[in-house]
Amino acid sequence: MSKVAIVTGAGRGIGRGIALKLAKELDYNIVVVDIDEESASSVAQEIKNVGKDAIAVKCDVSNNEDVERMVEKSFEFGEVDAVVNNAGITRDSLLLKMSEKDWDMVLNINLKALFLINKAVCSKWVSECKKIAEDLGEDRPAPSAYPKRKIVNISSIVAKGGNVGQANYVSSKAGVIGLTKTIAKEMSRYNVNCNAVQPGFIKTPMTDKMPEKIINKFIAAIPLQRMGLPEDIAGSVKFLCSPDSDYITGFSIEVDGGLDM
Ligand SMILES: NC(=O)c1ccc[n+]([C@@H]2O[C@H](COP(=O)([O-])OP(=O)(O)OC[C@H]3O[C@@H](n4cnc5c(N)ncnc54)[C@H](O)[C@@H]3O)[C@@H](O)[C@H]2O)c1
Repeated sequence: MSKVAIVTGAGRGIGRGIALKLAKELDYNIVVVDIDEESASSVAQEIKNVGKDAIAVKCDVSNNEDVERMVEKSFEFGEVDAVVNNAGITRDSLLLKMSEKDWDMVLNINLKALFLINKAVCSKWVSECKKIAEDLGEDRPAPSAYPKRKIVNISSIVAKGGNVGQANYVSSKAGVIGLTKTIAKEMSRYNVNCNAVQPGFIKTPMTDKMPEKIINKFIAAIPLQRMGLPEDIAGSVKFLCSPDSDYITGFSIEVDGGLDM
């Protein structure tokens, strides 16, 4: 039976690239999660067109009721083995002009949502592990007694050094790194690996709205002299979901063309 991966924010951009790569190259069926139902359905159809199964689930990842419903649906769909927390937003402005509303919105979608989703999914995995331990008649078997599970959280390269106009976004993405390391430590006894990816400057609808002058300034600072593509990020997520990374946890991969060496 094919394994299932949940990918949030998969209706477009990096999330869409990740969903398609996991389906095509790692044989995953995909739960395509997005707040925009139409784009989620269209990506689910693209996945079916390449011969894998997919469901589209409309979900605001910052809303706990939505998250619990989405996680239930995902486990009904199949055996969830991987979660990629990719949905994210920006609401940029300088600190002195930033509203509390924009601070809360970015923190809720970019960070709190990962707490909600990872908690809901890990709780299912831990219940399964407890049954396995019971069947084995052991209190605390070695992690290898359980199925291997993967969590990949999408952070950002700006979490390392900060970024003007992005106090909310940078704080959320730095929080993602702390959350990733903590989940890695807490969940390793259940054979769950939790890692992060820190994209640099990637061509998606999120960056398409930036002025051309600013885009060119960014590109000039990238040693590989181009913007990244969703496929560049999808490649590292694929690695972190594959058996090749089974001994890596609590780690973050920077995929930024050398921007922050
Ligand atoms: N594009 C970049 O340069 C870049 C760089 C570093 C990190 N990232 C991160 O990568 C991730 C994807 O970015 P992208 O560029 O593809 O963005 P994008 O704006 O193109 O796509 C984001 C997707 O998330 C969905 N989404 C937004 N809010 C949601 C919510 N509350 N619930 C569910 N879905 C929601 C959107 O509908 C959209 O489909 C984000 O976490 C972003 O912060 C992007």
